[in-house]
Amino acid sequence: MECIVINGGRPLQGLVAASGAKNSALAVMAATLLCSGEHRISGVPELCDISTMKRLLEHLGVRITGSADLRLDATHIDIVDAPYELVKTMRASFLVLGPLLARFGNARVSLPGGCAIGLRPVDIHIKALEAMGAHISIENGYVNAFCERMRGARILFDMPTVGGTENIMMAACLADGVTVIENAAREPEIIDLAAALRSAGALITGDGTGTITIEGVRQLAPIVHTVMPDRIEAGTLLIAGAITEGDVTVENCPVAYMGATLEKLRDIGCIIDESENCARIRADRGLKPVEVTTSPYPGFPTDMQAQLMSLLTLAGGTSLIRETIFENRFIHVAELDRMGARIRVERDCAVVTGVEQLEGARVMASDLRASASLILAGLAARGTTVVSRIYHLDRGYEALEEKLRRLGADIRREQE
Ligand code: UD1
Repeated sequence: MECIVINGGRPLQGLVAASGAKNSALAVMAATLLCSGEHRISGVPELCDISTMKRLLEHLGVRITGSADLRLDATHIDIVDAPYELVKTMRASFLVLGPLLARFGNARVSLPGGCAIGLRPVDIHIKALEAMGAHISIENGYVNAFCERMRGARILFDMPTVGGTENIMMAACLADGVTVIENAAREPEIIDLAAALRSAGALITGDGTGTITIEGVRQLAPIVHTVMPDRIEAGTLLIAGAITEGDVTVENCPVAYMGATLEKLRDIGCIIDESENCARIRADRGLKPVEVTTSPYPGFPTDMQAQLMSLLTLAGGTSLIRETIFENRFIHVAELDRMGARIRVERDCAVVTGVEQLEGARVMASDLRASASLILAGLAARGTTVVSRIYHLDRGYEALEEKLRRLGADIRREQE
């Protein structure tokens, strides 16, 4: 297994570019199952999660070439079965259910199961597909779905689920009639998926709002799309600048979709200059404590919670972080405490009391964003930090050590 070794305390400086958005690319890749022909998706980041989605699509029969510029031909689909081995490693694999069912009338997809950050059920996806006429049974850990032809329906989500909105939006593109999703997720990646689907001839309006309307069509054409930049990676790079008291400019930065993150960073005392696709951050040690509550977009993203916590460990006072999206998303706390942070968890709240200095330590990554938070803490800490189980990081950050090294970080990857 590999680990990342960081000698902390060097202010990061310079220019860095965010890659294409993982969560957007995964959904657009699943959408290629909706029709035959050669789809073209550009700006796809090279990540383990993307390789997992490629493996799943290839297993189904999709022919794939390229890496950053992907060509996917979903003309000959051999099977409509997504096995446990692939779905359990990445929950986004469940996104193939809607497209397969809508195009072929049946699909068998493994239930994703639990993951480190919480239970994450798929009941809302299933209830919505049933409302569109699907017959669904769950046997031996698999969702078996059948439907002669999906039909449009009015669907009210109990909560705004990102994956659920994407699954239903994709299925509805080929359904008979009009589907209206109420209380839909408003995340930017949904707007990006809708744009990709529209490039294929889908009739979608309202994406980015709580009500999305999709008018089904008989057939779609291949998708031609460039994936939006990754707002979570961009936010992580900005915090890398702030936590090291540096001066970092992130290019290809989707500032229009980062309102809650940028606002919190300003409240903490960071100086941020933004233009259309670019944000520059500067910070010194006079960081102020804040209260943060994660919530669906446009609220503060749960995927930035761990990284912001690392920054707040060095603020002058006590911060409060409330996690409302996932029930078990504070696993990084114990590791940050090993580095000298003072954090106490009370149910869904983390109480972070700022300290003068973090100390390097051996720590263990438990999930994707937790790994990023430990690396950020390591960049600021005195001495050497070794982050193990780094495969979590590789799921979602393209060449992070390389990007940080170019900004002046002393960071390298080693075999344990
Ligand atoms: C997506 C993102 C993930 C992000 C999350 C929340 C991808 C590939 N992943 O995950 O990075 O952290 O959004 O912004 O895009 N829920 C149910 N029943 C369901 C579906 C969801 O109860 O059927 C609950 C979940 O347990 C969770 C909440 O809804 O508490 C939000 O989950 P959801 O938006 O579905 O997250 P994902 O799409 O899995």
